[in-house]
Amino acid sequence: MEKKWWKESVVYQIYPRSFKDSNGDGIGDLKGILEKLDYLKELGVDVIWLSPVYQSPNDDNGYDISDYRAIMEEFGTMEDFDQMLAAAHERGLKIVMDLVVNHTSDEHPWFVESRKSKDNPYRDYYIWRPAKDGKEPNNWGSCFSGSAWLYDETTDMYFLHLFSKKQPDLNWDNPKVRDEVYDMMNWWLDKGVDGFRMDVISLISKNQEFPDGTAGVNGYASFNEPANGPHVHEYLQEMREKVLDRADTLTVGECSGVTLEEAKKYARNDGKELSMVFQFEHMDVDADGTNKWTDKKMDLRDMKAVLTKWQKGLEGVAWNSLFWENHDQPRSVSRFGNDSGEYRELSAKMLATCLHMMQGTPYVYQGEELGMTNAPFQSIEDFRDLDSINAYHELTEQGVFEKEEMLRYLRRKSRDNARTPFQWDSTPNAGFTEGEPWIMVNPNYKEINAKEQMAREDSVFSYYKELIRLRKEHEIVVYGSYELLLPEDKELYVYTRSLGAEKLLIVCNFSENSPEFFLPEGWEAEKLQRWIGNYPDDRIEKEMQIRPYEALVLSMS
Ligand code: NOJ
Repeated sequence: MEKKWWKESVVYQIYPRSFKDSNGDGIGDLKGILEKLDYLKELGVDVIWLSPVYQSPNDDNGYDISDYRAIMEEFGTMEDFDQMLAAAHERGLKIVMDLVVNHTSDEHPWFVESRKSKDNPYRDYYIWRPAKDGKEPNNWGSCFSGSAWLYDETTDMYFLHLFSKKQPDLNWDNPKVRDEVYDMMNWWLDKGVDGFRMDVISLISKNQEFPDGTAGVNGYASFNEPANGPHVHEYLQEMREKVLDRADTLTVGECSGVTLEEAKKYARNDGKELSMVFQFEHMDVDADGTNKWTDKKMDLRDMKAVLTKWQKGLEGVAWNSLFWENHDQPRSVSRFGNDSGEYRELSAKMLATCLHMMQGTPYVYQGEELGMTNAPFQSIEDFRDLDSINAYHELTEQGVFEKEEMLRYLRRKSRDNARTPFQWDSTPNAGFTEGEPWIMVNPNYKEINAKEQMAREDSVFSYYKELIRLRKEHEIVVYGSYELLLPEDKELYVYTRSLGAEKLLIVCNFSENSPEFFLPEGWEAEKLQRWIGNYPDDRIEKEMQIRPYEALVLSMS
């Protein structure tokens, strides 16, 4: 398998709005990130993925960009960016930008022009269609509720927006659009950034016939309907030639709706498209079909089946990215672990072990390394995310869910769970801001915060440091092949990694029970060494009771 620096790296995702506020306006900013680079260095990560910092009216917190070459005022200036980039590089940290080019903001000058008239030079930068039978051109739904089409009176036509009404989709079939995007990417590469995380890149190429899709609970087809469209690979290969081949970048495609076969094209080892993809199948194991608003608990067997399919399916062919969290997902310890009392730290460490010992590039989302939890939002007024707010109104007004029921689902699954301010210390507002934070601080910050955990050897933070260190020291963690054991076990996730004569056995208990576990054939207790575990002893026996949320990594060479 070809070695690459980005296969050997650990990426840390910063959601700048919620990371660190330096000027007391309640919103995180670039100077705040600059202040905290040493924290990231201490953790041991190699790469920072910055969620969007570009100029934006913030309908979707920066994922609606009105100028790709300017910094959002609330986050600072271009000088602040340059300073932060230089300071990161001085510390050996790379910076990966969020590239949001499936759509722009409706306040981007291209769209302002485009909607003016049918013969405007920018008209074909976006996707305009006439009504069909007096209605929207098809039944595609927006990711954030309602139709994906909005009627625009000026020219009596609809434009497509797979996300909010303020995020019109760019028309990638127009070569001018592609050239604009490539120029802009080159401009950022000239600045010295180290790669791109590509927002919903699997959606950029639309089937120009715009066929209807299968309707979901709200009556519309999923926003993923156009995923992996007819020209997506052609366009990414063109992007590789016109931009990415210039530099040794890390590129990761956010590929909603990606299948294994498609992923092999996006992230094939031949390097023609991207370094790796984010797939989302393991984020759907606790969904109800395409509806994420449910109390459904995951069945560990489903999780194992999905992750194993991706581990085995891409091995030797393409490259996985590994994640439990990002700014669109609830907190993993609340979702797949146990965020109450004694089990919070144990289960956060267990989840980390399970993920970081797999093959692929691990992503740590800010606060995950502390075991930050979902937040106790009380009412709909506590939420800021348009996805959550729109879904609440749409589904309660349509009578699909009662208000209390919907609030319960939001507390479990809302994206805002990941967006509460980073918990730095036990001072007011968790040390995030001296002003009024833009979204509530999780009241558990006095107990869960970076300062306390950095000083404690058995903290979740210290455990992450150790996992990251192990990956750096042992090639088997990066390149070893993966094999699942006990696929039908409902509590234990057990797998092995192998590289040459070296082998690892990873045992993770996803439950509060203490199931019996027998070392697999060929694994003799006397020959094993314990690399890491979340209980403070080193028992290795042929037959072991695996304690609640225990994680254990044993090596044999
Ligand atoms: C995916 C991003 O991760 C999400 O936060 C955003 O709302 C949509 N794409 C639209 O850009």
